[in-house]
Order: sequence, then structure tokens, then C-alpha cells
Amino acid sequence: MTGVPEALEKLTPAQARAAHEALARELAEHDRRYHQEDAPTITDAEYDALRRRYLALEDAFPELARREAQSQAVGAAPASRFAKVRHAVPMLSLDNCFSDDDVGDFVARVMRFLNLSEAPAFTAEPKIDGLSCTLRYERGVLVTAATRGDGAEGEDVTANVMTIGEVPHTLAGKDWPDVCEVRGEIYLGHADFAAINAEQERLGERLFANPRNAAAGSLRQLDASITARRPLRFFAYAWGEMSALPAASQWDMVQAFARYGFRVNPRMALCHSLEEMLAIYRSIEAERASLGYDIDGVVYKVNDLGLQGRLGFVSRAPRWATAHKFPAEKATTELLGIEIQVGRTGAHTPVARLQPVTVGGVVVTNATLHNAEFIAEKDIRVGDIVSVHRAGDVIPRVDAAILERRPADAVPFVFPHECLCELKTPLVKEETAAGEEGKVRRCSGEFACPYQQVEHLKHFVSRRAFDIEGLGEKQIEFFFHDPDLPVRTPADIFTLAERDAAEPVKKLRNKEGFGDLSVRNLFASIESRRVIPIDRFIFALGIRHVGETTAKVLARAYGSWKSFEDAALRIARGDQEAMEEMDAIDQVGDTVIEAVGRYFSETHNLAAVEKLVSKLTIVDAEKPKADTAVAGKTVVFTGSLERMTRDEAKAMAERLGAKVSGSVSKKTDMVVAGPGAGSKLATATALGIQVLTEDEWLALVS
Ligand code: IVH
Repeated sequence: MTGVPEALEKLTPAQARAAHEALARELAEHDRRYHQEDAPTITDAEYDALRRRYLALEDAFPELARREAQSQAVGAAPASRFAKVRHAVPMLSLDNCFSDDDVGDFVARVMRFLNLSEAPAFTAEPKIDGLSCTLRYERGVLVTAATRGDGAEGEDVTANVMTIGEVPHTLAGKDWPDVCEVRGEIYLGHADFAAINAEQERLGERLFANPRNAAAGSLRQLDASITARRPLRFFAYAWGEMSALPAASQWDMVQAFARYGFRVNPRMALCHSLEEMLAIYRSIEAERASLGYDIDGVVYKVNDLGLQGRLGFVSRAPRWATAHKFPAEKATTELLGIEIQVGRTGAHTPVARLQPVTVGGVVVTNATLHNAEFIAEKDIRVGDIVSVHRAGDVIPRVDAAILERRPADAVPFVFPHECLCELKTPLVKEETAAGEEGKVRRCSGEFACPYQQVEHLKHFVSRRAFDIEGLGEKQIEFFFHDPDLPVRTPADIFTLAERDAAEPVKKLRNKEGFGDLSVRNLFASIESRRVIPIDRFIFALGIRHVGETTAKVLARAYGSWKSFEDAALRIARGDQEAMEEMDAIDQVGDTVIEAVGRYFSETHNLAAVEKLVSKLTIVDAEKPKADTAVAGKTVVFTGSLERMTRDEAKAMAERLGAKVSGSVSKKTDMVVAGPGAGSKLATATALGIQVLTEDEWLALVS
């Protein structure tokens, strides 16, 4: 912000306060429309102008800013749930390494990507087992605090975070940028966790399973005064949007955060080789029990921010960082029974029901038994004493039976050969990508199988898909079996209200578990989801192998539902060109293409999708970086590149909105050719396609 408009200085303090309050109300209303209703009534530019006026007032009358921080600290809690905050820079997760070899591979990947002959410097620091939080400071004042959420959008927990003593309300020092988003971990120490649970017990309240759950429960309180009573702590280790970077390395960034008044982890170290990284890992592991707070591994990050920028990201994790996890924790307990769960894809998964046992601080009652082969190979029987493994957030698993302790009457487990549903469809084992017989037994009934139908519906309404409040797994089970208002396909969800209204007596509100208000809320939340972003929509369809990340990638590549559907239908018909186009998308390969083709060749699916689409408005994907010289262009790299590796070139092009293809065709816009380029260059020349040298390409995109 530069200077203060003269007009503002002429205001009396009382006038300024009134204007400040009015603007705050106006901004809050626009925030609500934008975040909660997804229906803004002003443009982003108009919003920014309002916000600038608001900040200009605070510039001229600094006491206004302080008042605001205070009023937020006391915390008028949001009326119902937390408002959503869209992260200016996504909050990423980390890839995991589980062994020294994995770390070696990680370092080698980094070197290969950057074409380095020696390992670059890495920071190594404890991986705190808490919950990540982003703190946005504008001109040194804390304005928003948000949870990670799904990485793109989190929950606004500003009022709660304001009560955490270790989070500064205003930044110390001087060299902070105007917009400064500091990220880190909120956590609870062991002693404080024990005290909280003792208090919970005294009050007859639910006990927390571990410090992380207690920290999350304490932070996500609608009543900030409860958060204020919990001694939450904060370590700063990363950042989001920064109007300027105060340093050029990871190490120096963290030192800058310390100057701004944050606690940073004293065990962070700078390493210059794989050996040093592993040595730090061992020393942190040795100290683990005496740290006083939970950690679940060590995080390594490339130190040089320039190199971090070049490495970029793969889907939701940076290429320049990884988490080296501590080994899983173990316990033994009795196997009470084996149940078969039928998943959305028809996979029949055996689940162990266990005598409850604590593994690494968490009570475990269920664990996966992987598949029929595993049970047979390890000869695991009901009644056995089994060893159970749990690593971090991963689903616990049964490892083996302790044969010496087997009861005399234990009999081998017989895995069913047909689906549990009334159709009794035979289970089949699919081929793996390598052409071998897979281990997963699947019902081939697909959409005819009621188990799969209901799982599809649960997936459809889940948090990362349609996220329909009040319509969770329990309610889906209910509606699926309800004779009056059945929900059998996703489209049925969107006709519930009209079907209910068409009944002579509205039925739903008289059913068990539903009241007048809950029915109204349910219908309203269904209504609010008729407008859906394309990535969520594609994910919600439950196409095999199309998870959240792939759905996002497809959405971004095709832009609109119409063009994705068109491509999918062509693939279903075996159209080679459509397959190649999809294959050219980064992170999409044969498995996904085949799954999309199968999904869109199934008439059941086509009918269900068509009915569903007619009830919705599917919002196009945001076009990435439409303002770059290569956005929307199809680029082919050929020959050897000298200034960067092929992977790096590809990643950079995609970051700038270009599509990278492996073969030259009429649709190619440009070919970047290095020394040794052969047939692709010849084809390009013959077709009259623009050919660039590596330097020309770099000049174009820089
Ligand atoms: S860096 C872009 N550093 O681990 C990299 N994360 O598994 C962002 N975490 O969501 C993360 N300690 O909640 C980083 N020293 C540390 C961490 C750390 C804990 C958590 C964080 C993140 C998760 C990823």
C-alpha cells in the first residue's frame, strides 16, 4: 500500500470507525456469498477495491486494525459451521519414504530431474504429527487462519487460532512482505494432552485417542473460548502466498519466520549428502521419545528455492520434498472374526475384527487382511492371536498369525466364491497390468450388483465428491432400501424433493430419523449442489482408477464436461486419436484410458449419467495460465535438451498451460528440437509446424 489517500486523513476518528465497520460488514457479506453460497454478487476486482479501501482506512487509523484483531480474538463464532477459505496457493501433502533406499531413490530422482551430478543441499526436520494450518498476514497483521481441508479449500479457523499464544497477531521485525502466508503445524505436547484427557474424564466426556485428535478437536471448536483453554502450540515450516520472498533458501525462509516471531523447530538441520540426511533421521528418531510431542518421521526439502521452483509438483505433492516415515508400530491381539466388505468396484476385501488393542496410541478394532491369497498363504484363522501393524494414518493391517498360540479347534478360512448379494454373481480375479492373475476377487455384476450400487452412491455424496450435507453413508443406506422414496442412482437424489412433494402426504418428515427441519435442510443442501465443478463431477462418477487427482487432471485437460464426455465416448468406441489425446495428458496412462472406455461403453452407466447431467449445471475447469505464450498449445520435445531434462521441460510446459505430446501431428503447434532430433523434426518441417531451439523455447516462456 502506498501512502494514504488525502480524503481519508480528513475523517474524524468516529467517522473512520463508522466507515471501517460498514466496510467490514460489506466485506463479510461478500465473503459469505462467495465462500458459503458460491454465488458472489460482485467481481473479484470490485471486491479487491473494497478490501483496499478497508486497509487504507486502517493505514490512516492504525487503532482500527488493532480493534479488529481483538474482536476476532474474542471470536464471534460462525453461526453454524466454519466458513470455507480458498487457499491462494494450494496446501500440498508429501510423498512418503519408508526406507533408506526410498530416500536414496528420492535424492536420485531430484538429481536426474535437474541433471545434477551431485546431490543438492537438503534441510531435514521432524515431521510433526499435528494438523497443518495456514496463517495469512497482511501488512504484518494476522487476517485469516485456515485448516488444510482438501488442499484447495480449508476451514476458516481465524477466531480459534487467535487464541493460540504461539501464533503472533502481528509480525515482529521489519522485513516481512505485505502479504505473508506462514504455514506450519498446530499440535499438542504430551503433558498437555494427558491433562486434557484427565479433564475430559473428570467431566465424563469422550477421551481423545491421541494428541493429534485432541489438537484437531480443540481447534475445530465453534466456541473459540474452548480453544483458548487448550494449550495448542505451533511450529512454522512452510509458506503460501508471499508478495515477496525474504530469502532464497528453505533454511533462510525458516530463519525469517523466527525473526517474525514464530517458533521454528530447533532440530532442523542442513544436509549435503544422502549420508548426512540419513544420519539426521537416525538422531531425530533416537530423540523421538524425549521430544515431548508426537512426530511420525523426518521431512527432507531441497534447500535452494530456485531448484524447488524448477522441480515443481506432481499432483498434490512437491517433487522437492519427501517425508521419511518412522517404522510402523505393532501389537498382538485375538482375531475375533473375518468379514468380507464389498467395495464400490466389487472388490471383496477381508476385514479382521479384532479384540480391541492399542497400537501406537490408537485403539484398533478392525484391520485389513488384504485378500484371499494373503489369508491362505499366512494360514490365518479365526481365533488366532495375530500381530497388527499401524503406520501413521494408514489403515492398520494384520501381518501374521502366531502359530504357537493357535487354539486347537481353529479351522482354515474359506473365502466365498460368489458375491454376497442376492444375485450371487461369481467372483473373478482380474489380470494385473503385468498380465498376471490379480489377487483381488471382484463381483462382475457391476451396476447390477446392489452392493456396488450403494457403494457408488456413498462415494457420490462423499466429502470430496458432491459433499451433500445431511446425506452420508447412513442416509444412503436408508434411501437405497426405502420403498417409498428409493434412491438407486445418483439422479434419484435430485428428484427426492419433488417426489416427496408429489406424495399425498409428504412422507419423509414422518420417517424415523427425519424431522421437519432436517428434511428442509437436506433438500436445501441437495439443491445447493446442483451446480458442481467438473473435477468433482468426474470424480463423483466413480470411474475405476479415476481418483481425485486424476479427475482434476482430466477436468483441466478437457475444460468442459461436453468435451470430456465426447472424448470418453470416442474412446469407448475405440477411437485411436481420442486415446492418444488422453495419453498425452501428464499422469494419465493406459489404465485410466481403459477404465474410462469401459465406463462409457456400459449402457447402464450412460443412461444414469445422462439422467444425472440433465439435473445439474457442471462448471467448466479454470483454464490454467491462459496468459502465457504457450497456453493451450500442443508442444513436442525431441532430440536432446541441454539446459534442462526432458521431465523438467515437460513439467514446465504443463505448468504454463501447454499440452505436451509424444508424437508430431497436424494438431502439434510447436516442436522444440535439440541436437540429434530425427524423424519428429522431419515430420514437423514437412507439416510446416513451428520449430524452436531450446534457447528459443526458454526465451518464449521466461
Ligand atoms: S512441509 C509443500 N514440513 O505433513 C510441503 N510438512 O504429509 C508442505 N507436516 O500436510 C509440507 N511436519 O501437515 C512439512 N516439517 C514439516 C511437517 C509437515 C508435519 C505435515 C503437514 C503436511 C503433511 C504432509
